[in-house]
Amino acid sequence: MNHPLMPGMRLTAPSHVKHARLIAWVAEIAALTQAADVVWCDGSQEEYERLCDQLVAAGTMRRLNPAKRPNSFLAWSDPSDVARVEDRTYICSQRQEDAGPTNNWMDPRQMRDLLQTGDQALFKGAMQGRTLYVVPFSMGPLGSHISHIGVELTDSPYVVISMRTMTRMGRAVYDLLGEDGAFVPCVHTVGAPLQPGQQDVAWPCNKTKYIVHYPETREIWSYGSGYGGNALLGKKCFALRIASTMGREQGWLAEHMLVLGVTSPAGKKVHVAAAFPSACGKTNFAMLVPPAGFEGWKVTTIGDDIAWIKPGADGRLHAINPEAGYFGVAPGTNDKTNPNCMASLQRDVVFTNVALTDDGDVWWEGMTDELPAHLTDWQGRDWTPEIARAHGENGKLRPAAHPNASFTVASTYNPVLDPEWDSTTGVAIDAFIFGGRRSTTVPLVTEARDWIEGVYMAATMGSETTAAAAGAQGVVRRDPFAMLPFCGYNMAEHFGHWLHLGDKLNGHGAPLPKIFCVNWFRKGADGKFVWPGYGENMRVLAWMLGRIDGTAGGVEHAIGTSPRYEDLHWDGLAFTREQFDSVIGIEPAAWQQELVLHQELFTQLAHGLPAELPATKARIEQRLAA
Ligand code: GTP
Ligand code: SPV
Ligand code: MN
Repeated sequence: MNHPLMPGMRLTAPSHVKHARLIAWVAEIAALTQAADVVWCDGSQEEYERLCDQLVAAGTMRRLNPAKRPNSFLAWSDPSDVARVEDRTYICSQRQEDAGPTNNWMDPRQMRDLLQTGDQALFKGAMQGRTLYVVPFSMGPLGSHISHIGVELTDSPYVVISMRTMTRMGRAVYDLLGEDGAFVPCVHTVGAPLQPGQQDVAWPCNKTKYIVHYPETREIWSYGSGYGGNALLGKKCFALRIASTMGREQGWLAEHMLVLGVTSPAGKKVHVAAAFPSACGKTNFAMLVPPAGFEGWKVTTIGDDIAWIKPGADGRLHAINPEAGYFGVAPGTNDKTNPNCMASLQRDVVFTNVALTDDGDVWWEGMTDELPAHLTDWQGRDWTPEIARAHGENGKLRPAAHPNASFTVASTYNPVLDPEWDSTTGVAIDAFIFGGRRSTTVPLVTEARDWIEGVYMAATMGSETTAAAAGAQGVVRRDPFAMLPFCGYNMAEHFGHWLHLGDKLNGHGAPLPKIFCVNWFRKGADGKFVWPGYGENMRVLAWMLGRIDGTAGGVEHAIGTSPRYEDLHWDGLAFTREQFDSVIGIEPAAWQQELVLHQELFTQLAHGLPAELPATKARIEQRLAA
């Protein structure tokens, strides 16, 4: 070991930790980072409360008014640390082609030199003056054959309390690991060592950031950020990037999907998994409240962001939610758009980068129709509608909450949580839905004629970028499977993996799940969304169920099958045939242009691209020309 342990450091593991390799690894990382102390987390309520008090004392969080939001907190991050950093995210496979053209890649030896072994290695001494927390967690129900275990070492107590909400975290995981269980090692530092006597800041981070994955050794190393998917390493880093590489090797799927159950008034229940890119409505759809006209229907949530899906002996695909909480986008959420989400946020919530009201509660854009007279914004500045107008851009008010502001809350507070959400065997999937945010071109809903056409739809999906990632917003980019920032291996092989899985399931007797493509976001000439969205998306969901059981009609066209006006159930909503035409229509000229963009993607992914996809594209071109 190159680095001497700091004197007085508590390295001894608690007696219930029996895993020699884990203990040795913790010692190694403590030595590398020169952490001042090591704390083995047990996931208890006492530990959670102690860390929350500590975060309040440090100025990272403030306690909200207990009369308004019991046991809830507000954290304001550094203004430079507010979203995922896709350009700093690396897949360091041995061979560059295994990361593929859509991922940043660096030779693992070079990356290890930069982070761990070189003279100036970033992790050397990175935790000086800070405590290293050992955070054992299970992605998925404890003991499920679909679940996997990780251990995150972090110097951020905010990450510890967030991981407790977002995963099954704590002592039971050490028990499950036993003496030699497998775990994914995750190392995280905010990259802000403290010299003796140095005063800490409220949100320590570093302007240099690296979010690094070694798929072959299944390791995660994250440096410089304390926010969201950059720092809660169970989520995007493990449950998507590392898990997708495990799934490809082992024959299962790790997808950026919500999973919901829909029960009809007759009591028939189906399960649907839907992939929408970041901040495109997964949480909303997963908690959907059926609108007027759908009395007796029920939607229940299994998961809102990530699904792990395994083929079962019955020839069906079984999905679990690897997470145990919701880390969701707050702006835009209100009692009309997502009442179940609002109901989930009444207590025991950690909010980050939302605004503070004068009575110690939270506010964000879209929460209420009426603007509050006075707030403290997410950067601690006075906010009034007048100030916001004076500092706004493009005629818009300066937001009081950051557009990617978030809430972190346990799933168990969701009033429509599905009774099977914690099932170790998961739920059988009847349909997949893919949907981007597109102002034009893509229809409200299209059913793929078969599995291959569905994989084509998912592979060529485009979406306008959102505040979920740092960088330009509102730009259309291809986001295959809503996995562009999350696939841990070559995207072209991901398409192949899906096609292969379809082949394998075919012939098992059970029908393959149907595949649909949706777009809630088409805009009219006035620049406004035409489709009312949110709960009204139930009308589209109900049509899909009708397609699954063969009762709903539709019309075939160049890119698949869509409903006619009369195929949707309109009771309770005034939506005209003309409005419907403007969200369902396929404009040949726009689609010619769209296919040029599909070709650009296929050219980029040419190496390893399954031949079925260009063949499907050729058939679409023929139909469009006919
Ligand atoms: P991640 O957790 O970041 O992956 O995002 P998500 O897909 O869960 O997104 P979320 O449900 O938090 O929605 C984000 C934004 O989409 C919010 O501003 C919502 O108001 C908006 N949104 C959700 N559903 C709809 C819809 O049906 N129509 C419209 N127009 N907007 C929607
Ligand atoms: C996303 O960006 O898709 C999220 C939020 O779910 S984060 O965990 O920060 O990636
Ligand atoms: Mn997400």
